[in-house]
Parts: sequence; C-alpha cells; structure tokens
Amino acid sequence: MERIVLAYSGGLDTSVAVKWLADRYDAEIVAATIDLGQGKELDDVRERALAVGAVRAHVVDAREEFAQEYILPALQAGAIYEGRYPLATALGRPLIAKKLVEIAAMEDAGMIAHGCTGKGNDQVRMDVSARALNPDLKVVAPARVWGMTRPEEIAYAREHGIPVPASVDSPYSTDSNLWGKSIECGVLEDPWQEPPEDIYTLTKSPAGAPDAPAYVEVEFERGIPTRVNGVTMPLTELINSLETIAGAHGVGRIDMVENRLVGIKSREIYEAPAATVLHVAHRELEALVIPRDLERLKAGLSRTYADLVYDGLWFSPTRDAIDAFVANVQQHVTGTVRLKLSKGDCRVVGRRSPASLYDTALATYDEGDKFDHEAAEGFIEIWGLPVANAASKRRQAAGAGAPEPAGPSAT
Ligand code: ARG
Repeated sequence: MERIVLAYSGGLDTSVAVKWLADRYDAEIVAATIDLGQGKELDDVRERALAVGAVRAHVVDAREEFAQEYILPALQAGAIYEGRYPLATALGRPLIAKKLVEIAAMEDAGMIAHGCTGKGNDQVRMDVSARALNPDLKVVAPARVWGMTRPEEIAYAREHGIPVPASVDSPYSTDSNLWGKSIECGVLEDPWQEPPEDIYTLTKSPAGAPDAPAYVEVEFERGIPTRVNGVTMPLTELINSLETIAGAHGVGRIDMVENRLVGIKSREIYEAPAATVLHVAHRELEALVIPRDLERLKAGLSRTYADLVYDGLWFSPTRDAIDAFVANVQQHVTGTVRLKLSKGDCRVVGRRSPASLYDTALATYDEGDKFDHEAAEGFIEIWGLPVANAASKRRQAAGAGAPEPAGPSAT
C-alpha cells in the first residue's frame, strides 16, 4: 500500500485532502503539522487529523530551527521582497518541505502532499524545496488537481463525514508564523478597498495606539539580536516580545500589490511587527559599522536574496554563497539601536557600536575637527576632472564646427 505524508494545517483543504488522497491513491495518509509559531491554530490539530482519517499524526515543533536557520539568515541578509514584504510565509515553506521529506524517510513513504493551490507561490516553494532535498519523492497537491470550489469542498466533506473546521466561515486566506502573518482574499482582492480593521490580529490600529511612544533598544552581537531593553532572550522569545510591543503601537502593517512568481499581480496584507523592527534596527547598525562600498554591494545581494526566497530557491547554491558573504559582514554587526515606536511609526533615534566607523573628529563642525579641509580641494580637482574635461571638449567641438550660437548678450 502506498503511504503519503501530508502537510496538515487543520483547515478545510487539508482535511478534505486526507480522504481524497486515500481514495485516489489507495494510500495510507500520515498527517504532519509543523509548528513554526502559528499559535492557536495548533490546538488539537493531532486529534483533528486522526478524526478525518489519517493513520498517524506528527506534530513537529520547528520554531527554534525556523528562527535560527531561516529567519536569522534572512534578517542578516536584509531580505525584504519588493521593498516591503519580510517573507514570513516564503521562509516557512522550505522548512515545512524539509520536515515532510524527513518524515517521509522515517515513514517509508514514497509521496508527500500539501494543500497549496495552483495559483500561488507556495506550491512552487514546496515542490522545488522537496525536489532539492529528495528528487525521488513524488509531490502531489490535491487542490491543484481536484478542481473543487469552496462550496464543493464543503459538500464533499459533509458527504464523507469529515468535520468542517470553523475557519471556513472566514472569507480570508491567512498564513501565520513567528515572522508574521499573510492575509489574502475576500474584499482584499479589490486593491482600491481599504482593508477592514478586523483582519488585523497582531497589530493595533495606529490611530488607536497609545499616545505615549515606546522606546525599544535592540542589541546585536555579530548580527544576532540578543537583547531587548537590556534583557537577554533566546531568538524566538525576542521575536515574540518585539511582536507584542511593536504590535501594540500599530507597527508592522503592510498593504501592497506584489508580483507573484507565477505572473499574477496580487494585493497582499501582511502583519510583521517584529520583522519590521528587527530589519530597521539591523540595517541601521550595518550603516554604522560597514563602509559605503560594502553597503552598496550588500544592498544588491539583499534584493537577490529576497527574490530567491520568494521564488522558492531556498535550497540552492546561490543562497549558500550569499549566506557566506553575509556571515562575513556580520562579524562587525555588534551594537545597539534605539527605536521609537509610535502610532504605527518605527523610527531609529539612536545607534552605537564598539565597531562603529563613525568618527566625531571627522564628522564635527565644531572644535576638534580633524578633517583636512585643504585636501578636499585636490580631491575635488581630480574627482571632477572627467566632467570638466568632457565639458571643455564638447565646447571646443561646437565652436570649431558651427558658428558661435547667438547668446543673449550678442550684439
Ligand atoms: N503572497 C505571499 C507569499 O507568496 C503570502 C502567501 C500567503 N499564503 C497563504 N496560503 N495565504 O509569500
């Protein structure tokens, strides 16, 4: 008998998928739920999987691995898709795929399955990651195959005695983990419509946030955030506590139209309070400790990194290579950034570092200035040489060919 390991969320799609896969492939279905910090959704997920017909149900706590090996490298790389999306969902998919592949090996299964549809990025990330880890495994995405609409799925569930989860009442499709939440569908599909307030669960409305700002000091050691307001915390806890503080001040709401890999433009809402604070802080600290040319070089790689995460190429030689570059840069990224959170705004108001390249004696306009002002003249002479040269050659050429153009003062 065939055995299939299914990524099980507990929602309608994957609940229906248990029965559908078992029938279609005459297979045993092993459910696997990966905890990436999605919270409440996981309550009694094991019981639900077994209730809908899974022969076994694994629940894997992968929060620590997610934080250390996925979130942290992406933070250090400055990976933000199209300048706005910190990639919570996109970073979670390769880890889910990795766990499915591991469980498939344990369970001696030849196939893995997931609930992604045929229109999104997530299917690409799951399938490509699985192929990168074990090209011999077959991957099936029932929702890409069965062609059922939502009401048809509900009818299918009723017909087969599958308990319909309460989440079917929500018009939205959401995905949550430690790094943030993604929200799609319903009225959000109209890019002109303002998102209704009730879609937000991690962030307060900026207008309703406290009048008094919060100051947060984030400390990094070699690129790793280790302390918030002087308190040392493991990374998962640090992310959770920043989520609480920043969320309470309305920080981290993102409303954008993005380019999916599959060619569709889509309107997306994200809540990423912790990711917003950490990216702002980390970028600011790098600005203090790395030289200009390296900053420019890294900025280009940040974009490449964000694209490859988004595009499902997490397990790739390109990412490995950029990670090595980024790790080298992080050696100097030690210090503290002070941020002010107020009514949806997250602003850096202070930064300091033992590795700071900032030199007051060079920067000051006051007493103690060590900058050589006279040397600037020689520098400018040579720096401006190419443009001065080009201008004078053009003028000569214009003068030699045509008659002098009549200027305003010509008589
Ligand atoms: N557009 C985002 C991405 O591609 C979010 C996807 C959200 N997925 C979901 N099943 N709701 O990363």
